[in-house]
Amino acid sequence: MSDPSLIEDLPKHIAIIMDGNGRWAKQRGHARALGHRAGVKSTRAVVETCAQRGVQTLTLFAFSSENWNRPADEVISLMGLFLEVLQHEVDVLHKNDIRVRFVGNRSQLSMPLQKRLQRAEDQTASNKRMELVVAVAYGGRWDIANAAREIAVEVEAGRISAADVNEELVAQHMCLRGIESPDLLIRTGGERRVSNFLLWDIAYAELYFTNVLWPDFKPEDIAGAIDFFQQRQRRFGRTGEQLDSA
Ligand code: IPE
Ligand code: IPE
Ligand code: MG
Repeated sequence: MSDPSLIEDLPKHIAIIMDGNGRWAKQRGHARALGHRAGVKSTRAVVETCAQRGVQTLTLFAFSSENWNRPADEVISLMGLFLEVLQHEVDVLHKNDIRVRFVGNRSQLSMPLQKRLQRAEDQTASNKRMELVVAVAYGGRWDIANAAREIAVEVEAGRISAADVNEELVAQHMCLRGIESPDLLIRTGGERRVSNFLLWDIAYAELYFTNVLWPDFKPEDIAGAIDFFQQRQRRFGRTGEQLDSA
């Protein structure tokens, strides 16, 4: 159960770019694949911490549309790791009342992996404690282009007209439709960039960058990011004075 006293000003939706696995492994003289394996432990702990704190949605960037350009052996080992992790973790997530959803270009994934993702979504569909969204083969530009294509089909079929296209309609065609946009975006691993993650959805997210490499990221680091978030004044274009007098 989450502690209600901690829920005030809590980000409802946290998104994380889990970066730094390769460097973590390299620093220890290991192969990059070992860093990805070590990263799974951080992921497990962060999912549990966010659920305990009462976060409603946690979106994790696991594999980008650009990560296909990595050496074939790394791509193969990452896909193998996803399958393995899904096999072990979905029952645990289900027991913990966590709903799992995957976003990204699934048609690029192997059939066994596509089936496993579908099975995990079906198994956990009615869970309520937290929603875990995992972005695999995901790119923010792909997401926007996909939405545009879906809308074009609607226009072409005469079901809507071009004049009906507005922000609300586009949002209904993005992968995160139906979910409130992330309040807080965390990137580990030291880079200060978005790397084609949720371009549409992070318009007003607070951005938190840390040098900690993903396998070293601990529950106290999530707490640090939430503390940072709670110190921000979210103005959404208004002035500070307007918000103070509200
Ligand atoms: C993030 O860690 C995981 C994926 C992109 C799959 P990296 O593999 O990018 O680690 P670094 O950035 O090379 O250290
Ligand atoms: C972003 O990390 C993608 C994921 C964490 C899955 P990258 O390591 O791929 O990003 P770049 O290439 O450094 O921008
Ligand atoms: Mg990286």
